[in-house]
Amino acid sequence: MGVRIIGIGSYVPENVVTNFDLEKFLDTSDEWIRTRTGIVERRIAPPEMATSDLATEAAKMALKDAGVTPEELDMIIVGTASPDMFYPATACLVQKNLGIKGKPCFDMEAACPGFIYGLEVARGLLHLPNYKKILVIGAENLTKFMDPEDRATYVLFGDGAGAAVLTMDDTPYGIITSHLGGDGNLGDLLYLPAGGSRMPASRETVEKRLHYTVMKGREVFKYAVLNMQKAALKVLEQAELKKEDITWLVPHQANVRIIDATREKLGLPPEKVYINIDKYGNTSAASIPIALTEMKQKGLLKKGDLVLTVSFGAGFTWGANIIRWG
Ligand code: ACO
Repeated sequence: MGVRIIGIGSYVPENVVTNFDLEKFLDTSDEWIRTRTGIVERRIAPPEMATSDLATEAAKMALKDAGVTPEELDMIIVGTASPDMFYPATACLVQKNLGIKGKPCFDMEAACPGFIYGLEVARGLLHLPNYKKILVIGAENLTKFMDPEDRATYVLFGDGAGAAVLTMDDTPYGIITSHLGGDGNLGDLLYLPAGGSRMPASRETVEKRLHYTVMKGREVFKYAVLNMQKAALKVLEQAELKKEDITWLVPHQANVRIIDATREKLGLPPEKVYINIDKYGNTSAASIPIALTEMKQKGLLKKGDLVLTVSFGAGFTWGANIIRWG
C-alpha cells in the first residue's frame, strides 16, 4: 500500500509583469534579473485576489483531474507563508469556497517547502483509518509582502497555487519516501519582521516598512544551494536509489543558478530538470505543484517515472520527496 497523487492542478493570476515592467519603477534591468535569477516575467495577483482565491482554483482543477468531489475529501492542508489572514486558516476559506463543511482543515507554514511538507504530513495521516482522501495545496500571494521599492526582493517573487489530491491504494505508484529538515538558527536571513506577536503592526512598523520581507540574498543563496543538494542526496539514500534512476528533478523555482547547482551535484543532464522560473518567478510553496501540473499537461510525466522534488525556504526549512509517478 502506498500514498499516491491521483489528481493535480494549478492556477496563476492572469496579470503578467515582465522585467521590463519593473524597470519602469525600480532601479533594475531585464539583463540583471535574467542573468542573476533566470526570471523573465511573473504573475502578480490583483489587490482583491487573496491566497485562498488562488488555492481554490488550483483545488478545483486537482479535484477534477482526480475525479473526486469536494464532499469526498477528508482533509484540506494549505502550505503557505502568505495566508489571507492569521485566522481563519486559508484552508478553512478554501473549504468554504468548495462548498463543503465539517472536514478538518489547517495551514502549514513551512515557507517554500510547504507543499513537500504537506505531502509528507498527508502521507502519514492517510495511514490512519479516518482519512481516505486529502487535498494538499501550496498557495502564495507573496508579492503583497515584498516591498515594491526594494529591488533586491521585489523582482524575485510571483503569485500562484498548485494542489494535489492524495489517497492510499495498492498500486506500485506514489510517494516512496520524503526527507524534511529545518534550522531556526538562520531565521534572520529571511523574515517578515512586523505584524506578528514579536512586533505587532503599528503606524511605526508601517512607516519603517517592516511589514515587508527582509532577505540577505547572498547568504540565503549559499544555504539554499547547500541544503537543496543535501536534501536531494539524503532522499535518494533513503529510497535506496541511485542518481541515474531519477527521471525528473522538479526543484523549487527560486533561482536558476540554485537549480543548476543542485542538478550538477546530482550529476543529472539539463534535460532531466524541469524549469519554469522564467514565467512565474519564485512562487514559494506553489512552485513545485505548478511545475508538476504543467509537466502533466505537456505529457512529460509517464507512468512509473521517478520524480525527485526538492525545496528550501525561510526558517530555514528544506525538504525532498521521491515519487513514482502514476
Ligand atoms: N537589479 C539590479 N541590481 C540589483 C538588484 C536588482 N533587482 N538586486 C540587487 N542588486 C544589486 C545589489 O544591490 C548589489 O549591488 P552592490 O554590489 O553595489 O551592493 C549587486 O546587485 C549584487 O547583489 P548580490 O546580492 O550579491 O547579488 P546575487 O548575485 O547574490 O543575486 C539574488 C541576488 C538573486 C537575490 C540571489 O542572492 C538569490 O537568489 N538569493 C536566494 C533567494 C532565495 O532563494 N530565496 C529562497 C527562499 S524564498 C522563501 O522562502 C519565501
